[in-house]
Amino acid sequence: MLQQQPSNMGNEIRHRETEENRASNESPIRVNRVTKDYLGGKVVALDDMTLNVKKNQVTAFIGPSGCGKTTLLRLIAGLEYPSRGNITSYGQSILGPGPDRGMVFQAYTSFPWLTVMKNVQRGMQIQGISTVEQRERAEHFLKLVHLDQFADSYPVELSGGMKQRVAIARTLAQDPQLLLLDEPFGALDAQVTWEMEEMVIEIIESESKTVVLVTHDIQEAIYLADRIIFFTPNPGELRQTFQWNLKGEKGFPRRKTCFLIRDMSRWKSASMG
Ligand SMILES: Nc1ncnc2c1ncn2[C@@H]1O[C@H](COP(=O)(O)OP(=O)(O)O)[C@@H](O)[C@H]1O
Ligand SMILES: [Mg+2]
Repeated sequence: MLQQQPSNMGNEIRHRETEENRASNESPIRVNRVTKDYLGGKVVALDDMTLNVKKNQVTAFIGPSGCGKTTLLRLIAGLEYPSRGNITSYGQSILGPGPDRGMVFQAYTSFPWLTVMKNVQRGMQIQGISTVEQRERAEHFLKLVHLDQFADSYPVELSGGMKQRVAIARTLAQDPQLLLLDEPFGALDAQVTWEMEEMVIEIIESESKTVVLVTHDIQEAIYLADRIIFFTPNPGELRQTFQWNLKGEKGFPRRKTCFLIRDMSRWKSASMG
C-alpha cells in the first residue's frame, strides 16, 4: 500500500501532464480569468475573461469599439500584461513578445525609408535569419500577397491596401504559429477590403496558421472565421461563442454567407440592444 501510493501518484501526474499537453496542443492560446485595468483601476478594459484559441482555426473577436478587443490582442502578443489572471501559449505563460506570435496592426507599419523587399526582410533580420533565406522567404510572401512586382518600390509609392499587404508579408515571413490581426482592413475601402479578405483566405489555406482576427464587421467575421467570440462593451466580457465547421468550404457560396449574416445580425441586435 505504502509502495503503491507513490507509483499511482506518478501515474496520475503523468496523466495530468499528458492531458495538459493535449489541451494546449488543441488550444495553443489559453486566456484564464484575465482582467486588465488602466489608470489604477478607473478603466476596466477586460473583466475576468476566459477563452481558448484553437489550433489551425481562425477565431474572430467581435464587439463594439472600446470593449477590449485590441487590449486582449496586445496581451496575447505580450506587449502588455494582465492585471489579474494569466495567458499561456502552448502551456507557457506569456512573458513578452515572441517569434511564435506575429501581429498586424490596423495602422500601416512599414518603414518609409526601406523598399518593400527590405521592409519584409526587416523582421527576419532581427531574428538572425541568413540573408539568402531572408531573400527567399521575402520573395515567397511578396508573391503570396501579390506584390512581387513592387519589391523595389518604397511605401510612399503604394496604396493603403498595398502597404497593409507589406505588413502581412513581413509578419508571415517571420513564420509565427499564431497570427494576430487587429482590424487589418479597417482603414481600407470596401472593394480593397474584399480583395484582402480573399487573399487572407488563400494564405490561411496555404500556410495553415492559427489566426485571431479582431473586427467590428460581422460579415467579415463570418466570411473569414471558423469561430466568433462576441465581447460585451464596458468592460469587455465574453458574451457568446459561435462555431461552425466549413473547413474546405471557404469558397462557399455567398448566398449561404448571407443567411448566416442575417441570422447573426438578428442575434446581435436582440442581445446587444
Ligand atoms: N493605455 C491605456 N490607458 C487607458 N485606457 C486604455 C488604454 N488602452 C485601452 N484603454 C481603454 O480600454 C478600453 C478598451 O480599449 P480597446 O482594447 O482599444 O478596445 P477595442 O479594441 O475593442 O476598441 C477602452 O475604454 C480604452 O479607452
Ligand atoms: Mg481596437
